[in-house]
Amino acid sequence: MAKIGVFDSGYGGLTILDAIRKELPQYDYLYLGDNARAPYGTHSFDVIYRYTLQAVKYLLEQDCALVILACNTASAKALRTIQQRDLPLIKDKKVNVLGVIRPTVEAVPAITQTGHVGILATPATVSSESYVLELEKIAPELTIVQQACPMWVPLIEAGEHNEPGAKYFIGKYLRELLAKDPQIDTIVLGCTHYPLLKDRIDEWLNYRQEIGESEFPAPKELPHITTIAQGELEAESLRDYLTRHPEYRDQLSQGGTCTYLTTENADRFAQSASIFLNTPIVAEHRDL
Ligand code: DGL
Repeated sequence: MAKIGVFDSGYGGLTILDAIRKELPQYDYLYLGDNARAPYGTHSFDVIYRYTLQAVKYLLEQDCALVILACNTASAKALRTIQQRDLPLIKDKKVNVLGVIRPTVEAVPAITQTGHVGILATPATVSSESYVLELEKIAPELTIVQQACPMWVPLIEAGEHNEPGAKYFIGKYLRELLAKDPQIDTIVLGCTHYPLLKDRIDEWLNYRQEIGESEFPAPKELPHITTIAQGELEAESLRDYLTRHPEYRDQLSQGGTCTYLTTENADRFAQSASIFLNTPIVAEHRDL
């Protein structure tokens, strides 16, 4: 019987895993964080593709029938090539790899009222234009602006995101995004690490709304902004996928377990992951 593999460059995929396990607790999961090589989001296509393929191959060797790329950067840069070039070479078992961008994009048109949408993501996801291209396909009337946030993943990986200094970088990227388009009413957190900053992002946005900042002279007239995190969207999408694809669902074991693997120090991973997940976990080290 097979497991569901969940992969991220580091801790961010835990936000997706957590939501998926709430929605589909019966399955067995194998989480892999490539913390030793995070962040991915500042690397080139070749590096992101190579690292992601190594992780996917590893999870498939551990009997995963499905691998969720719980990482926008890997989904934007490596998913299509892996699906089209690498998976067809695996002929002896039925396996698939799924990403997080499409389920997120599908939720956006129903949320925005102004039709102005902001995407916050890693530099690699922004440069791939994946969100812009996917949104143009389903809702060409929307105005999309993107903002790369290169410091956010390093802050989270270093456990510094709740420290006072993080506020500077949270405000910096939000200010840069909103300066490009003040009519934005919907912001996609297009990186699975960013939900760990969601409270602080919302706090900054509310502050801007209520008190204003010098570059926003009429804050009360600005639209209220909804931030979209991906966990629940991905969980619903996976549930739907398994309903439509019994060939994968029927391979999955149902022990309700989760095993955590990291390419970094296992104790450090377990300590941070326990805080993010709000429950104690143990982790094991693996080299890819
Ligand atoms: N969680 C990854 C994402 O969703 C972060 C990528 C990184 O390591 O920079 O994009």
